[in-house]
Amino acid sequence: MNKITVIGAGNVGATVANVIAHKDLAREVILVDIKEGVAEGKALDIWQTASINNFNSRVIGVTNDYLRTKGSDIIVITSGLPRKPGMSRDDLIKTNATIVKEVTEKAILYSPEAIIIVVSNPLDVMTYTAFKAARKHSRKVFGMAGILDTGRYKAFLAEALDVSPKDVHALLLGGHGDTMVPLPRYTSINGIPVSDLLGKDVLDKIVERTRKGGGELVNLMGTSAWYAPGAAAAQMVEAIVDDQKRVFPVCAYLNGEYGINNIYLGVPVKLGRNGIEEIIEIKLNDEEMKQLHASAAAVKETMDVLDGMGLFEG
Ligand code: NAI
Ligand code: 2OP
Repeated sequence: MNKITVIGAGNVGATVANVIAHKDLAREVILVDIKEGVAEGKALDIWQTASINNFNSRVIGVTNDYLRTKGSDIIVITSGLPRKPGMSRDDLIKTNATIVKEVTEKAILYSPEAIIIVVSNPLDVMTYTAFKAARKHSRKVFGMAGILDTGRYKAFLAEALDVSPKDVHALLLGGHGDTMVPLPRYTSINGIPVSDLLGKDVLDKIVERTRKGGGELVNLMGTSAWYAPGAAAAQMVEAIVDDQKRVFPVCAYLNGEYGINNIYLGVPVKLGRNGIEEIIEIKLNDEEMKQLHASAAAVKETMDVLDGMGLFEG
């Protein structure tokens, strides 16, 4: 893999580019933004850490110059507004869907073979937007949320148990929002079931805090998070570049898996050189399946808003 494009040089996009460069995952990292000078400046700043942080990836910023992204192997889309106070979910869908459609179409023109990772929110419906705009196989267009949400869940568990976050193993399904489905039954501390170590009350509180994890940070900072989202997107890039076959929760297009059809939703997948190489169907009990279907219904509502916009008609 030689070239990775990150669209949107805001908080998340710049962080993704920075982590990709630190890990030396590409010969070239192209950072694109619509605001004159922003991507150029941030890319230059990251590039000037190369000798300090010991990497070779050449980081280049451009303003709307898609020709410079030509031949990218992976495109990470982070362009779009973060949710602001007073903005409804539907307002955000409308604004960001227009942006995600436009940047996907432009980028894919120069990199028709690229794998696309969507980060822009509302995540599940923006991934669907990019899928429609790119007209590619759904296994090559997917979204980042599950690694971030699981990362938050694991951080809270590590804190509660005073153990290394490296030893916390967990899984979380569903949409990127309050309906996400953390799975305590699939959570362990290096194989020790978490329910053996934590009481139900504490575990329930951690699950609830995870569901609201994005909002907790918005309330603290007035805008959404970027360090963990950036690191999570870069981890997906790494799994693809190094053909690692990592198993992560990823926002993927479902075609009957889990009894759900025609929507993007967070499920465990195997990620490698070809993108999503397998969607893994784990055994859920009745309650977990009910929660997953409730989450799917909430995501479907946002997809209906997109379909109602008529963005892809004509
Ligand atoms: P930001 O406001 O810092 O950056 C967004 C950037 O997109 C800006 O620099 C803006 O100029 C650029 N942009 C807007 N329209 C563009 C276009 N047509 N072409 C190129 N660039 C364009 O926002 P931040 O914090 O970086 O968040 C980016 C998106 O990621 C938001 O939608 C946010 O909600 C989402 N997000 C998703 C997460 C997830 O788990 N999937 C986690 C955190 C954020
Ligand atoms: C987050 O979870 C708001 O999606 C953003 O941090």
